[in-house]
Amino acid sequence: MKIAIGCDHAGFDLKPAIQDYLIEKGIEVIDKGTHSTESVDYPVYARKVADAVVSGEADLGILICGTGVGISIAANKVPGIRAVVCSEPFSAKLSREHNNTNILAFGSRVIGPELAKMIVDAWLNAKFQGGRHQRRLDLITRIEKEESHV
Ligand code: RB5
Repeated sequence: MKIAIGCDHAGFDLKPAIQDYLIEKGIEVIDKGTHSTESVDYPVYARKVADAVVSGEADLGILICGTGVGISIAANKVPGIRAVVCSEPFSAKLSREHNNTNILAFGSRVIGPELAKMIVDAWLNAKFQGGRHQRRLDLITRIEKEESHV
């Protein structure tokens, strides 16, 4: 399992704790930056992680900004990405079971490292359930391709 991780300056303080946690679990972490608290633009790092996931360089991605909102919006603009921003484990779990999310985002100004680790666990331990949920994801893909106005 390989996970690409990225953040902006606001997420930088939380990133090392999540990286270490993933490494402890035997997961290979691909760090896409940023590497300091110097102000940067979150779409740049959203794009780096999203590209890593879509290309297959990474199996999944994790993104951190101040709220998780901007960086997840940006990631969701990349075709094939289904990013969720979570501040509790229930949505993280369901986002994989029903929505097959491939990027998890959270906000370092919203949650602390221990809750973030619980959210990561809930997300990683859940499995996509397919079936009717796949049909709905197929509709999302059609929207991405501008084939559907439903
Ligand atoms: C940066 O100040 C902040 O706007 C960013 O980290 C994020 O919260 C945006 O959604």
